[in-house]
Amino acid sequence: MDKSVIICRCEEINIDEIETVLKLGAERFDDIKRITRCGMGPCQAKMCFKPVADLISEYTGKTLAEIPPARARMPLRMTRMSVMASNLESGSTIKAVLEDGDPDDE
Ligand code: FES
Repeated sequence: MDKSVIICRCEEINIDEIETVLKLGAERFDDIKRITRCGMGPCQAKMCFKPVADLISEYTGKTLAEIPPARARMPLRMTRMSVMASNLESGSTIKAVLEDGDPDDE
């Protein structure tokens, strides 16, 4: 197969880039993700996990069942800009965001 074929459309990562990381010893999707950004696009690996898992399986000899899925990240919460701006001087933006609560609750 042509090594320039894009495997992660969101981040424009091709097979050659994935194989380079596999040759360096990557064995999990998250290893490849951290180095190449594959799986960090808007689809969050929904499109690219399977073809990357196939490559991992090919290189490591693991079955697809032995390859752990991409780590899920907690979604970010919407925060008002006024909360961010009002706490710039005190440097307590994180505390203010946590105390502000969920804007959807109002
Ligand atoms: S195709 Fe890889 S993150 Fe969307």
